[in-house]
Amino acid sequence: MALEINWYKTIDSTNSEALRRIETANDFTTYAAKFQTSGRGQKGNSWESDAGKNLTFSILIRPVLLKAADQFLVSQIVAIGIVDYLKEKGLVAKIKWPNDIYIEDKKICGILIEHYLSGANLSVSIIGIGLNLNQKCFASDVPNPTSLLLEKGEEYNPELELERLLLIIHEYYIGLNVKSYKTFKEKTGIKYQECMYRLMEFAYFQEEETGDIIEAKITGVDKNACLMLEKKDGSKKSYAFKEVRYLLNY
Ligand code: BTN
Repeated sequence: MALEINWYKTIDSTNSEALRRIETANDFTTYAAKFQTSGRGQKGNSWESDAGKNLTFSILIRPVLLKAADQFLVSQIVAIGIVDYLKEKGLVAKIKWPNDIYIEDKKICGILIEHYLSGANLSVSIIGIGLNLNQKCFASDVPNPTSLLLEKGEEYNPELELERLLLIIHEYYIGLNVKSYKTFKEKTGIKYQECMYRLMEFAYFQEEETGDIIEAKITGVDKNACLMLEKKDGSKKSYAFKEVRYLLNY
């Protein structure tokens, strides 16, 4: 399959570039940058990446058959695709809900997805991915970062790695690009859950609203893409993104 990849030496943000191209871009077009001057992360954070060292790219997709209510499926296929890609590199990666990719307790990849709707369906999703390949030192305020180089001791070619990763993600994308994706959704949900970071392990979390610290285990993700936690007394609660945070070193 011929992938459409547009490489930029320097750009503000590949997600912003994809958005500028939203009217005309073909389905599954990729915008990749050697360096982003205003890379964006989740929760309004910036995304730092040394020039030429890592993968910073965005895929514009048109998943028009996907119901808006099922938009988490896009996150799931991308996260699973990255886990598969890292497995090929000999690494066991886990998905820290909703879509950070971790090696043990270190973040190797962040994902920022922006959805655009048309009625009850999706029209466009812009999938921004920052995957650390060859960076060794990170700014001190980045929590527990790692890279393929730090994990494997080898240098990686960004162009080649991007092509491989895109092929893997594209394979999954085909699965949700059909009218009846019910079975695919079920299978994807199971695979996503199997890959979840700290699944069924008791750990500490903080509720954002109350500030309360709770000890609980992740039991999965519910139909609304919320994180399901269960305390030691058996009580259960689901949390939306930004309603709870992991306390990694508590
Ligand atoms: C996170 O905070 O974990 C998400 C980081 C997403 C970063 C990527 S890099 C390529 C794309 N362009 C951006 O501006 N952000 C995403």
